[in-house]
Amino acid sequence: MIKFIDLTREYNFIKTEVNQAIGRVLKSGRFILGREVESFEKEFAAYCGVKYCVGVASGTDALFLSLKALGIGVGDEVITAANSFVATALAVELAGAKPVFADVNPLTYNLDLDKIEKKISFRAKAIIPVHLYGQLTEMEEIKKIARRRGLKIIEDACQAHGASLFGKKAGAWGDAAAFSFYPSKNLGAYGDGGAIITNDKNIYEKLLFLRFYGQTEPYRSDFFGINSRLDELQAAALRVKLKYLDKWNQRRREIAAIYRQYITNPAVILPEGKNQAGHVFHLFVVRTKQRDALRKFLKKNGVETLIHYPIALTRQPVFKKLAGAKCPIAEQMAGEIFSLPMYPFLKNEEIKKIAMVINRFI
Ligand SMILES: Cc1ncc(COP(=O)(O)O)c(C=O)c1O
Repeated sequence: MIKFIDLTREYNFIKTEVNQAIGRVLKSGRFILGREVESFEKEFAAYCGVKYCVGVASGTDALFLSLKALGIGVGDEVITAANSFVATALAVELAGAKPVFADVNPLTYNLDLDKIEKKISFRAKAIIPVHLYGQLTEMEEIKKIARRRGLKIIEDACQAHGASLFGKKAGAWGDAAAFSFYPSKNLGAYGDGGAIITNDKNIYEKLLFLRFYGQTEPYRSDFFGINSRLDELQAAALRVKLKYLDKWNQRRREIAAIYRQYITNPAVILPEGKNQAGHVFHLFVVRTKQRDALRKFLKKNGVETLIHYPIALTRQPVFKKLAGAKCPIAEQMAGEIFSLPMYPFLKNEEIKKIAMVINRFI
């Protein structure tokens, strides 16, 4: 069986270093907001090419706290992509604002620039472009729209660690950006974790309070904050993995190239689009009208696949009444897309076997 992802292979590769890092934390006796988190924040900010990073408990919290730090809440609207993971829109709801879904480009799977403007009402305060599957949204154009219409930008970079566009990294484009360190991400922890990056000192300082019960000094809260912290054990592990991120992203691009070379079944549409150089292939998503039958065939032949995501946000029961909008491209794609195994430790013979099975499918 070729699993969708097998994280034990990665652990075996970095075992000595990770065990050492975890041991260092255990011996230190400090588990919350200590030197590991502080160091990771500095290292990750530098890696992304921004000034500040704040470690939090998850990608969902990273989005929610970014919205709070930017002062977005009740009565405000936030425009985002209709095909994201549900957490993007949940975070907007959690902040008290209303998600407004815009349709996506069928080639890049990211926000369709032509569809955004129509969605901007006088209540709109921000755009959350989602760099889905590891490819940056067209950020220069998004920035132009945001500037023209007076909107903030919060990048959802939860699937785009290390991705870039014109040499500028994911997360370095907006007012703030949210990352998830869910274990299967390109940079994954051994549990939940997340971070926000920003170049804005005010946002940074506010976030430090917000993730820590809104406390501005010990036992004095000036803001409605929450408890949302990246912990020392996760930060120590992430520091080890960050050193390999570029190499692992390069391997993901290599895997994508092998898939491209070997998959020849004309019924299967491979990912394409602009800006592929900086794509980090968090997921390798293909498209076909016979999606369910092909997935079944792959499963019968020992290949595990997943769907990211089977329900467009406009069709999610939780958002149906609220948004009421139609995003036909995202809705159609949800019925045709699925994801092939994609992680740096996938072996070449496995990739070729997967391609062979796909090519045998009629
Ligand atoms: C695009 C996107 N946004 C938000 C999230 C939420 O991150 P988390 O699961 O860490 O809360 C994820 C990942 O799960 C994601 O892929």
